[in-house]
Amino acid sequence: MSEQGTTTESQGNKYPPDPELAKTANARPEMLEQGLEEFWDEQAKQRLDWFEPYDKVLEWNIPHAKWFEGGKINACYNCVDRHAEGDKADKVALHVVPDDGPDSSQARDITYAELQRQVVRFANGLKKLGVGKGTGVGIYMQMIPEAVVAMLACARLGAPHTVVFGGFSGKAVAERCNDFEAKVLITQDEALRGGKVGSQKTNADDGLGNDTTVEKVVVVKRTGGDIPMTDRDVYLDDLLEGESDDPSSCPCEPMESEDLLFLLYTSGSTGKPKGVVHTTGGYLTGVTTTTNLVFDMKDDSVYWCAADIGWITGHSYITYGPLANGVTSVLYEGVPGYPDKDVWWKIIEKYGVTILYTSPTAIRSHMKWGEKYAQSADLSSIKILGSVGEPINPEVWEWYREHVGGGKAPIMDTWWQTETGHILITPLPGITTLKPGMAQQPFPGVRPEIRDDEGNVLGTEQTGNLVLTAPWPGMMRTLYKDDQRFRDTYWSKYSDAYFAGDGAKYDADGDIMLMGRIDDVVNVSGHRLSTFEVESALVEHEDVAEAAVASRKDPDTGQAIVAFVSLKGDTQGTEELEQALREQVAQSIGKLARPASVIFAPDLPKTRSGKIMRRLLKNLAEGEELGDTTTLVDPSVVEEMQKQMQQG
Ligand code: PRX
Repeated sequence: MSEQGTTTESQGNKYPPDPELAKTANARPEMLEQGLEEFWDEQAKQRLDWFEPYDKVLEWNIPHAKWFEGGKINACYNCVDRHAEGDKADKVALHVVPDDGPDSSQARDITYAELQRQVVRFANGLKKLGVGKGTGVGIYMQMIPEAVVAMLACARLGAPHTVVFGGFSGKAVAERCNDFEAKVLITQDEALRGGKVGSQKTNADDGLGNDTTVEKVVVVKRTGGDIPMTDRDVYLDDLLEGESDDPSSCPCEPMESEDLLFLLYTSGSTGKPKGVVHTTGGYLTGVTTTTNLVFDMKDDSVYWCAADIGWITGHSYITYGPLANGVTSVLYEGVPGYPDKDVWWKIIEKYGVTILYTSPTAIRSHMKWGEKYAQSADLSSIKILGSVGEPINPEVWEWYREHVGGGKAPIMDTWWQTETGHILITPLPGITTLKPGMAQQPFPGVRPEIRDDEGNVLGTEQTGNLVLTAPWPGMMRTLYKDDQRFRDTYWSKYSDAYFAGDGAKYDADGDIMLMGRIDDVVNVSGHRLSTFEVESALVEHEDVAEAAVASRKDPDTGQAIVAFVSLKGDTQGTEELEQALREQVAQSIGKLARPASVIFAPDLPKTRSGKIMRRLLKNLAEGEELGDTTTLVDPSVVEEMQKQMQQG
C-alpha cells in the first residue's frame, strides 16, 4: 500500500465529470467566479429563512468576523419547523437504524412533523429545568435520535450546546462541561454499540463528581439498564411527562446572527482542549450551502453521513446541514462490522441511499474485509460519495469508487476542520475532474493559499502551509474565554491569514493536495487528538517519570500513537505495565487515544538544553533513518529505543 496522501503522481488517474450529472448539478461553474460577499449573500438569502433580514453581509476586523449582522434567525426553525409546517411534513427526516442493523424491530422513521413534535417537547422539558437563551447545555450521547433532538431543542431555546463525543471519558465530559459552565447535561443510561453494552451515565457521574457547574443530568433510556440515579438526575420520560408538543407552546427563539450556537472542544498541540466558538447565521449559511452543493442534494436524495454526532462532521453534516436542506437522512447507531460486515451495504440497499459520506478509516476497514460484502447488496442507488477527516489513499479512493460507487459515482474528498465549521476545499459534482487522494479546489467564496514559513506564496509542487486569506461564514469566531489563544494559534504565524496547521501543495493543474498536520495533532481514524493530551494522561500513572508521544502511519487507522515512556526509579517496563498505561489513557481520554505501542526507555532523547527532540521520536515511530543525533546528551538512549522498536 502506498503512503498516505503522497502518491497521486504515481497513480495519476483522472476522472472528468459525467456530462449528465453536470447538466443537473446544483453547483454551477459561475459560482466560482462570484465575489466572496456576493456568493455568500446570495446563498444566505436563498437557503435560509430569516426572522429579520440582515443589514450587512460581512464585517471583517482581522481576526474577528461578523456575518449577516442585524439578521435574526433560529437554527431549529430552519432545520425543522419550516419543513414540518410546509410541504415536507410527512417526509422522512431520519431513518433511524439501531445497533443491530436495518432489519431490527427497533428501526423506525421520523418524519419532519414528528421531529418537530419531539423537539418541541424536549425543549419544553429543558425549559422546566431553567434552560433558556444563553444557558449552556452539555450532550454526551451515542448515535441515537434523541442526540439530534437534544441539539435542536437547545437551538430552539437559544441555549448553546457542547456535545462531548460519547466514546470520551467522564473526565473529558467534566472538563468540557465545567469550562463551558453548562447547567444541564443530557446523556443516556447505557451505550449500545456493536452488540456490546457500555456505560455512559456512570462515566459522566464519575467525571462530574460533585464539584461541577452541572446542576441537572437528563438521562435518555436506551437500554433500560439498572443505573444509579440521584436527586441531580431525571429520566427524560419523566421530565417530558405532560409536556406539550405543540410548536406554539415553545416558539423558536429569534437569535442574533452572531449569537453562539454551540461550542465544540477540539485538541490543540498544547494545553487543555480548545472551545471552538460557532455562531448562528454564518454557520448555518456555510453548512446548508456546502451540504447542498457538494453532495448535490435533491428533493429525493437519501443521505447518510456515517460520522459521529460528537465530532464537527456530525454537527455540520448529520444535524444542521442536511436538516436545513430538508433531506431524508440515515442515522445509524452501530459500527461497520456488526451484526455482520455487510451491515452498511444492507442499510444502503434498504433505504436506497444516494449519498454516502464517511471517513477513509471506515473505507479501509471495508476494503480489508473484501468487496464480497459490498457486492452482496444492491448499491445502484448511490450517486455521490464523500470522504472526510484525513487524507484518503489513492488505492482506497479507487476501491471506494469501484465497489461502493459502481465504478462511476464521483468522490468528494472534503477538507475542513472543527474550526472551519464547514467544507472549504473539495471537488464539486459535475464540475471538477477528480484526482484520487486530493481535495483539489476551494469551494466558491473560499480563498486558500499555500505559503512558506516566511509568508511567500508557493507555486506548483512546493509543500508549504495551507492558509485562508479571506473569511468564510462558518469560521470559528474565537476560542471560548481565550481570545489570545485564538490569535496565537491561528492568526499569529501570518498577520493577514488563517493558519490551518496543515501542510499542502499545488500540483501542475492548480489542484490542492493535503499533506497532513504540521503540528503535534494526531489523527487517529479521522479523530483528532493532541500528543500533549496523551502525554499528560500517561504521566498521571505513578510509575511514569516522563512521556513523549509521536505518531506513525497505520494501514487501518491512518495514524497510530506511539508512546515513549521513561519510568521512575528501578521500575521495569513490563507487558502488564504497558497494558496499564494503555488503560490509563483510555480512562483519561477515551479508548481511541490508547497508544498502539509503548516503548520504555531509561530516558527520553534530549538536547543539552533539556528539550525533547521530537523529530527523532517521529523518525523512530515511523521506523525511518534517524537524523542527526549529535546534539543529544546521550545518543545511546535512541539506540536502545530503536532496538525495542525493531523487536516489535
Ligand atoms: O489535518 C486535516 C484533517 O483533519 C484535520 C481536522 O480535524 P477535525 O477538526 O477533527 O475535523 C475533521 C472533520 C472535518 C485537518 O486539519 N483532514 C480533514 N479532512 C481532510 C483532512 N486531511 C486531508 N484530507 C481531507 N479531506
